[in-house]
Amino acid sequence: MNKVLVAAALGLGFAYFASLPAQAEPKPYTVHNGNKVDADTYKGFALYRNWCARCHGTFGQGLAGPDLTVSLNKITYEEFMNTVAEGKAGQLGMMPAWKANPTVMQGRDNIYSYLKARADGVLDAVKPEK
Ligand code: HEC
Repeated sequence: MNKVLVAAALGLGFAYFASLPAQAEPKPYTVHNGNKVDADTYKGFALYRNWCARCHGTFGQGLAGPDLTVSLNKITYEEFMNTVAEGKAGQLGMMPAWKANPTVMQGRDNIYSYLKARADGVLDAVKPEK
């Protein structure tokens, strides 16, 4: 395969991935003893820490960006998924769009599970464990 074909195949793969509909419902999370979480919620925390924490605080409590443990009790799952994909420019500043980042896009539902567990008050502001 020549280089052009490889690039085309990669492009198609990405287009296919980007066209997958987001899951309509949030995944259930489980938390025991304030910090023991299921594997997907843990993945959500790891993604959150890598991509979101610098603006939203180590455990979602807010920093330059808003406190997401409050936000997730106000916005719907769908609004969360859309805001992460499209970004948001508001009074607080600029939330970047993540739609070109497959790692974040694929893990959005897990990030939601992590933040929802924080917002529901069942997961403490401590490093979660599996
Ligand atoms: C460069 C800083 C920055 C990064 C990185 C960032 N955000 Fe934001 N985010 C913001 C700002 C600033 C806002 C508020 C925009 C406004 O409304 O003024 C925001 C808003 C949001 C909102 C909407 C909150 C609400 O109450 O409406 C959600 C949800 C959100 N961010 C999730 C995330 C997630 C998930 C990530 C990681 C994938 C992330 N953000 C990464 C800066 C950031």
